[in-house]
Amino acid sequence: MASSSDNPARPGPGLRLCALDEIPDPGGKGFRFREVERLFAGFVIRKGDLIVGYVDSCPHAGWPLATFGDRYLTKDANHILCTGHGALFRLDGLGVTIPCVGERLARWPIEVRDGEVFTA
Ligand code: FES
Repeated sequence: MASSSDNPARPGPGLRLCALDEIPDPGGKGFRFREVERLFAGFVIRKGDLIVGYVDSCPHAGWPLATFGDRYLTKDANHILCTGHGALFRLDGLGVTIPCVGERLARWPIEVRDGEVFTA
């Protein structure tokens, strides 16, 4: 598997992640990739026409954001929640509550083609 960063576990562009229908609307889905001892984690958020990917690593402490399966969004689906210490992020990745005010989730580029989600 080709890598696109210094993390050899991070998949390169063009890898099929899932069918778009496998991601709830609104909702999210996490993905994990392992290469020997390295792990890359990313997730994709879907809400209406918005479909965006982020590296699953909170800027506060580097923890994955979702503790419970694929529950990345708040109940009202207006924010991404880090369950580590409760930081909220807008769906564009900007942190709006402590301890992540003004910090950003790192984008994980994805694209949708013919109802399928791929790394970009
Ligand atoms: S690890 Fe996300 S808020 Fe602390």
